[in-house]
Amino acid sequence: MTPNAQLIERTSARRKALAAQMIEHGGGIAIISTAPEALRNRDTEYPFRWDSYFYYLTGFTEPQATLVIRADSQGVETILFCREKNQEREIWDGYRYGPQQAQLSFGMDRALPVDQLNAEMPKLLANQSNVFVAMASNPTTDMQLQLWLGEVRAQARSGISAPRNTIDVLALIDEMRLRKDAHELGVMRRAAKISAQAHCRAMQTTRAGMHEYEVEAELLYEFKRHGSPFPAYGSIVAGGRNACVLHYRENSDRLVDGSLLLIDAGCELEGYASDITRTFPVSGKFSAAQQAMYELVLAAQDAAVKATKPGAHFMQPHEAAVRVLTQGMIDHGLIQGPLDEAISTERYKRFYMHRTGHWLGMDVHDCGDYRVQTSSDTEKPWRALEPGMVLTIEPGIYIQAAADIDPKFHDIGIRIEDDAVVTSQGCELITRDVPVSVREIEALMQR
Ligand code: GLY
Ligand code: MN
Ligand code: MN
Repeated sequence: MTPNAQLIERTSARRKALAAQMIEHGGGIAIISTAPEALRNRDTEYPFRWDSYFYYLTGFTEPQATLVIRADSQGVETILFCREKNQEREIWDGYRYGPQQAQLSFGMDRALPVDQLNAEMPKLLANQSNVFVAMASNPTTDMQLQLWLGEVRAQARSGISAPRNTIDVLALIDEMRLRKDAHELGVMRRAAKISAQAHCRAMQTTRAGMHEYEVEAELLYEFKRHGSPFPAYGSIVAGGRNACVLHYRENSDRLVDGSLLLIDAGCELEGYASDITRTFPVSGKFSAAQQAMYELVLAAQDAAVKATKPGAHFMQPHEAAVRVLTQGMIDHGLIQGPLDEAISTERYKRFYMHRTGHWLGMDVHDCGDYRVQTSSDTEKPWRALEPGMVLTIEPGIYIQAAADIDPKFHDIGIRIEDDAVVTSQGCELITRDVPVSVREIEALMQR
């Protein structure tokens, strides 16, 4: 099969699966638009990144496009609204499919110029009982829907009825996106490999005296040269105490001998994210205190990895990591025991204040409910892991300088993050092409 035939097979199966869910909900019209273009300054735009839901269902990467799915008693129809061909604009900005070619290349039933969206939508919405939209997620699309429904309602005296119910279409797609198919896992494995290589490059090039942004440049170079258009999120390159700022983004300080460097960076490839953190000594050699804290975080990660398996619930890896970290904090005199009390009173949160993982997919913090959606108003249980789900496992420890802390631990910030695919037996870490043990990291840096 040609790549395009594979894309059509994949995305049309997803559109069919969504249509089947719509019919279960009583049928109607689904409207899913790609992301708006965003102005950066004056006449310069941010690089365009399509909407993940739209891309999941279409594979179409041009801006100004909307997918409409009609699923009712008459059957199912998919319509793509996209930009028309335009010789002059194509000279300036590049190729556009245009509706005719887009219909063929993306396997749609129909494709229409996006300029006709406002004229067509009231016709499509007439006499439907449900409309499936991204609810309250974008003021422009909310306003468009109001406009279209207004036009349908205006025809009430001719006996035409407007949809009465809006249903959140994203919640239906979330459940599909949460479980990755073989193609998605293949892309995610490739993204993970590129990111791992970039982290290796960072370990090999880092020297005291370099700026954090110089190391960031090495990461970006490795992403780009392997075909990644951009990072999956803003890279964190945090030397010394900057590692204790969880979302440090300046990446502007000079790296100092004797300190650690925390790098949280991952590339996006073909619409899928990878997300890796490694922490290593600027000099290439851990101090005893740094090594003790590093090995504690690694042991916490090992415990979380073992807890990541089908049937375990989402919080079990976090609970396993917290247990190991808290015991280590007590052993090193950072907090008071006993263990169970230190956990129940959340004493460990002074040094470990975030969760141990999140779903990973097209978005770095990917979609999908973390709890089971029940109708009861009691606390909903955490969701059980299933093969094909992908999540990060990223424990850490962040020790800011303080009078009550042994100075040898001051300004140590460590996180170790890998990407895990849940398998039938347990989980597979797809980001381990970059070393994680003290011995292997020191060996790579010495080479
Ligand atoms: N890089 C974002 C995160 O680790 O959640
Ligand atoms: Mn992460
Ligand atoms: Mn990360």
